[in-house]
Amino acid sequence: MEDLRITKLSLGAEKPFRLLHISDTHLCLADERDNERKNKLAEARKNVFGDGEDALAWSIEKAKELDALLVHTGDLLDFVSAANIDAAKKFTDENDCFFAAGNHEFSQYVGEAWEDKAYRDQSLDRVQAAFKNDIRFCSRVENGINLVAIDNSYYRFEQEQLDALKAEVKRGLPILLFMHNPMHTDEFYNYRRKVQGVQIAYFAGTPAEMMSDYDDHRFRQQCPDEITAEAADYIANEPMIRAIFAGHLHFSHETPYFGRMQYVTGGAGDRVARLIEID
Ligand SMILES: [Fe+2]
Repeated sequence: MEDLRITKLSLGAEKPFRLLHISDTHLCLADERDNERKNKLAEARKNVFGDGEDALAWSIEKAKELDALLVHTGDLLDFVSAANIDAAKKFTDENDCFFAAGNHEFSQYVGEAWEDKAYRDQSLDRVQAAFKNDIRFCSRVENGINLVAIDNSYYRFEQEQLDALKAEVKRGLPILLFMHNPMHTDEFYNYRRKVQGVQIAYFAGTPAEMMSDYDDHRFRQQCPDEITAEAADYIANEPMIRAIFAGHLHFSHETPYFGRMQYVTGGAGDRVARLIEID
């Protein structure tokens, strides 16, 4: 059953327009060009997500039907494979899509390694080549509204990204920020832990003291470094950033974010999308 949330934002656009926010498609394709381990992984992961191609076709159809620009907040690929990269390239060749990378974009075998810059750099160029915009940081102005995509998918922001974001703010246009991992707020953290009953929130910018009961791996993974804490503080306090859109969690949710809203959109594999109507 499809779940299409509708979010309306009045930002003073030059004319009304629509975005279709999708996330977490998790393409799980592999063929003879990749090794047996990758092909076995594809089979196993298909049982979780399907192969992702139907989900992608559904998203494309929805965007056409709704006359909306596709914005994808990452995990289009479940793992790096020749077939997944081909499918991503075909998708971006045939459809206009503004894209921010997720953690799976650079995943070799899903969860088999510590994910950091060195790990990402093993496949960054190869994955980037399948997309039309810079998947780690990019701005695109539509009708006077600045859409900014930023890759925070390892629970980190980097200095260049924060500098680039500050430069975008200086342009003086209202900003919608698209990223893979949701940003921490105490309210959302409490919702995750007390209402949903999960121990790990999987947010960027959660203060270390609120992760004291996380296991060591998740604590080290999600603990903000200095620049991430600085970026989280900047985003929280910058009024030109008018809303945040994220994915990663595979459910849809709307939550206050320092006087604005943060919108999380569920996985496209579950036929979930968010229509953003902007005027
Ligand atoms: Fe993710």
